[in-house]
Amino acid sequence: LKILKALLLQGFFYVKKTLFFLLVSSTNIYLFFKIFLQIYVILIILKYPLKGFGAMSQEFANERELEKEFEQIFENEEAHYLIAQRAHEYAKLMAYYRCAIMEVETKFRVLNEELSLEYDRNPIETIKTRLKSVESIGDKLTALNVPITVESIEQNLHDVAGVRVICGFPSDIYTLANAFLNQDDITLIEKKDYIANPKPNGYRSLHLIVEIPIFLHDEKRRMKVEVQFRTISMDWWASLEHKIRYKKDVQVPNGIAEELKECAEAAVILDNRMEQIQAKITDKDQKNAQTDLL
Ligand code: GTP
Ligand code: MG
Repeated sequence: LKILKALLLQGFFYVKKTLFFLLVSSTNIYLFFKIFLQIYVILIILKYPLKGFGAMSQEFANERELEKEFEQIFENEEAHYLIAQRAHEYAKLMAYYRCAIMEVETKFRVLNEELSLEYDRNPIETIKTRLKSVESIGDKLTALNVPITVESIEQNLHDVAGVRVICGFPSDIYTLANAFLNQDDITLIEKKDYIANPKPNGYRSLHLIVEIPIFLHDEKRRMKVEVQFRTISMDWWASLEHKIRYKKDVQVPNGIAEELKECAEAAVILDNRMEQIQAKITDKDQKNAQTDLL
């Protein structure tokens, strides 16, 4: 019960602070404090398990004592220093991931440029990038039951940096993925081909986890990036399905799940037909070009 009370009080402090900042801060200041507070709370949480639960229940004979303890931490300069240091480490790691995203994105832009000359059309429709939010990082570390530390993020999470490459046709996906993986600075860590083996719900995409070097002023660092390849129709389907179902606790009625799966299959048929039309056009163009030459 005491542990529960302690946790509840931690939660209360966190909610109180967050609400306060939500109310008084503009977007940028709020974002800064959100990250700051997350690390603050993580540190506070980490401090107590170190003492052991026995010590904790004895020490916090009542809520007031616990409150005093928290007040001290908030006042304590050493804690402030530690927190600032951790926040700096976290910000640095996130900057490295942003650099890795830039490197990967540039590689695809280069490939798009080159392949567009060869095929007379752009194989890439859009590139979307995202850095996992501090909340999602916290949630995932908790779900994995691994330490909530900056080091643990790099060790245990493979999808902090995400790049999504959206292609016109299914064959473009493999052309791009192979060209990307053949580059000598890219190391493949994991490959999940949900196009060849779709998920039972109908989800299709090619997922790669790769390691890419980033060059800093005094070191070279290898960073992990998750790259997802999809066609426009696979992406359209996945965004709708994500909204309806993915990672939600609510159970979706069977009928809807079936209907979604049917849509995924209809999308495959359309993708393949469009690809065939495209191939016919290219073929005709090539034949015309040959006759022109003759
Ligand atoms: P995560 O904890 O979600 O990363 O699981 P995992 O490591 O097993 O990853 P997986 O490679 O299967 O999927 C990672 C990402 O692919 C997700 O974060 C989504 O962006 C996307 N994804 C995977 N499955 C689905 C799905 O069924 N529907 C949708 N809309 N997206 C999916
Ligand atoms: Mg993943």
